Amino acid sequence: MLNISDFNNNLLDWYQANKRDLPWRRTNDPYRIWLSEVMLQQTQVITVIPYFEKFITNYPSLDALADADERRLLKDWEGLGYYNRIRNFHAAVKEVQSTYGSEVPNNPESFFKLKGVGPYIGGAVQSIAFNNLLAAVDGNVLRVMARLNLDYRDMTKASVQKSIKHEIESIMPLEAGDFNQALMELGATICTPRAPKCIMCPVQEHCEAYRAGEVAELPVKKKAKAKKEIYYNVYFILNDKDEIILREQQGALLQGMYELPKYDIDTSVESIEEALGLTLDHPNIHVGSGKHVFTHQVWYMEGYVLYTKDAHPDFIALNEVEELPMSKAMQKIYRQLEA
Ligand code: ADE
Ligand code: SF4
Repeated sequence: MLNISDFNNNLLDWYQANKRDLPWRRTNDPYRIWLSEVMLQQTQVITVIPYFEKFITNYPSLDALADADERRLLKDWEGLGYYNRIRNFHAAVKEVQSTYGSEVPNNPESFFKLKGVGPYIGGAVQSIAFNNLLAAVDGNVLRVMARLNLDYRDMTKASVQKSIKHEIESIMPLEAGDFNQALMELGATICTPRAPKCIMCPVQEHCEAYRAGEVAELPVKKKAKAKKEIYYNVYFILNDKDEIILREQQGALLQGMYELPKYDIDTSVESIEEALGLTLDHPNIHVGSGKHVFTHQVWYMEGYVLYTKDAHPDFIALNEVEELPMSKAMQKIYRQLEA
């Protein structure tokens, strides 16, 4: 990039004229900006919009969210995935309420100490809400920077991402929030992964990949490891009172979400009976299949119905199931069993 101030002006002028009208761009409220970035970190804009609107309606202020019941938050987050995001955000917002008088700190050092605040969220919120001079490097920004600088390094490497963050911070103008959002916006709308619209690009004259005819070769991303495949049998265990067994999930990923009992496909019904302390009617009835792709795993699920006359503490009335947060993976199988 030859002329930094030309580059910055071209990018910022283009952003002012072309930015999408998104709900979190109509506010200066740091809490709302933070909420939007937590949602946007791993989810596309188009998916985020209705969730953002729902959260702003249900939790219009930082205090409203801090005071909310975690199960209701999880229920409202249902379907967005990466449920740790909302649990961490809840904890962080509570901390802001108790330690900073419900004011989001305009101070990177304090902000980065909060739960769930890493380089991306920290940079995005501190720049967009307060114009503090920090970069916010997401996948869009990495792609744009790789192409602008004809940078063939592996963009999946943390060390490379860190170096790009420093590079951006070294050219960043005072309008830090607009600058970060302009880079993201360029990646989302012009400098797209496939068939980028270089003809319409506001920074084409600064782009080394364009000049070299190498746009299609960038960014370089080392292939991710194959996802682990996991095979589960999922059980819809009914009694004669229209109740089913539903239990709270354990483990970091889906903590607090509810699930039907699921077991590795090699688990016999006898050992399930033993694990649950129940007698079950055999044979079981197959009612559907489901597949769900997570970041590092793929679940293949087969659903079965079983009956019991015994009592169990995790029985819940069928018409109360709707109230409980359930992951998308589990819903895929539950909807079939329900039918
Ligand atoms: N992706 C991440 N942050 C964003 C923002 N503020 N606007 C649009 N897309 C985004
Ligand atoms: Fe991306 Fe093309 Fe613009 Fe270069 S010229 S930044 S490759 S859209």
